[in-house]
Amino acid sequence: MFQKPYPSVASLVTSNAPIPSVKAAGWVRTKRDAKDTAFLELNDGSCQGNLQVVIDKTSLPAAEAILASIATGASIEVSGELRASPAAGQKWELAASAVTLLGAADAETYPLQKKKHSLEFLREISHLRARTNTFGAVARVRNTLSFAIHEYFQNLGFYYVNTPIVTASDAEGAGQMFQVTTLDLDKVPRVKEGPGAGTVDYEKDFFGKKAHLTVSGQLNGETYATALGGIYTFGPTFRAENSNTTRHLAEFWMVEPEVSFLDINGNMDLAEDFLKFVFGRVLERNPEEMAFFNQWVEKGVVDTLKTVVQKPFARITYTEAVDVLVKSKQKFEFPVQWGIDLQSEHERYLTDVVYQGPVIVTGYPKEIKAFYMKLNDDGKTVRAMDVLVPRLGEIIGGSQREEDLAKLEKRITELGMHVDDYRWYLDLRRYGTVVHAGFGLGFERLVQYVTGMGNIRDVIPFPRTVGNAEF
Ligand code: 4AD
Ligand code: MG
Repeated sequence: MFQKPYPSVASLVTSNAPIPSVKAAGWVRTKRDAKDTAFLELNDGSCQGNLQVVIDKTSLPAAEAILASIATGASIEVSGELRASPAAGQKWELAASAVTLLGAADAETYPLQKKKHSLEFLREISHLRARTNTFGAVARVRNTLSFAIHEYFQNLGFYYVNTPIVTASDAEGAGQMFQVTTLDLDKVPRVKEGPGAGTVDYEKDFFGKKAHLTVSGQLNGETYATALGGIYTFGPTFRAENSNTTRHLAEFWMVEPEVSFLDINGNMDLAEDFLKFVFGRVLERNPEEMAFFNQWVEKGVVDTLKTVVQKPFARITYTEAVDVLVKSKQKFEFPVQWGIDLQSEHERYLTDVVYQGPVIVTGYPKEIKAFYMKLNDDGKTVRAMDVLVPRLGEIIGGSQREEDLAKLEKRITELGMHVDDYRWYLDLRRYGTVVHAGFGLGFERLVQYVTGMGNIRDVIPFPRTVGNAEF
């Protein structure tokens, strides 16, 4: 049976009893070296707190030489006794009987010295920032959220489906796409004759046609939802949007459940129940991380989450939202009138000021939403739903899907798209069509909301944005 090489610091600092002989390993966060005693704060990434290592130099004279070469960032192994600590704020300390330096870290050049570094600076050293309190906490909360997402859908009996990352159909039109090609851009093959003469000859490209990175797994997800009942995807998504904001990435992760026999109301219930479940899991499993965010990143984030888990989300229609915004007499950069797409400032006014919590908005004008959304009887609005949260605005976008073949074909044609390009998607309506609905959750926005982190670049290990694909 596999055992980890060392017990985790998390298991040691929460031990129920002293341990006469134990070994630990990790990275030194700080060293305090006094005449007879030295203290090291040891962190191995397993929890927010450190394990204090106490080195009694009078009984361990060999340690003196090693201590001289131990600085912040060094990796060490310590053997000793886990004993009750006289210091406040910690139950145990490790009284060292031997200390081994595994890897030194040069104090002159190691960028993570004890002082507080700006998030901007840490972005420049993304390969080391996971060793800080903030990024360790984000990574652990992100992990909890990932696992909770699977847990939630698996409990419902939904199947995890992997949809393609490379796609040759401009399925959604959900934003600018990254092209995927193996053509030599210095010697692009051109069509020699006929109607397309002079244009790029994609028949010579890898897939025999133009291909892109996916902007959403939804359309492929629908094929499995209309066979297996309930499914979800959870994978990377790419959008070449030139939006340099604190909420946009070019590569982000999206969770997309899709459920047969579900209408827009059921879809709202699912989204709300799902968010509350994953928030609850973080509150349960990451109390130390959340206390950290509450103190250092976003004051009140813990109480906010606790309230959100208990209160029903506000649910309003787009028309009601526009009404509220117009009547607010608030000066917005983008003036509000029926028909406009809600901007982040409008969304945040609804969540931060009017409802002071998450809001689900439904019934958007069809013109500002995707072709596949179910048309309402008014002929003007669609059964779309956006879940908006304070600070961020949109965190989830979804809808009931148009299941009527004729209406869907009509919409595709109206928008100047080609029915032929959607043949396989339309087959789901042609054969055994059913009411179905689903949504997409931006995973990084979820992590941002839960942790209170202000910039989306700080909740994904290696952010990809316009002009930046370092590491
Ligand atoms: O609203 P969107 O574009 O919806 C879809 O893609 C649908 N196909 C989803 C579905 O119904 N299955 O994107 C869904 C979510 C947004 O609400 C937002 O949280 C996130 O994805 N998102 C982004 N997150 C980070 N960076 C970006 N550039 C994002 N664009 C969208
Ligand atoms: Mg959206």
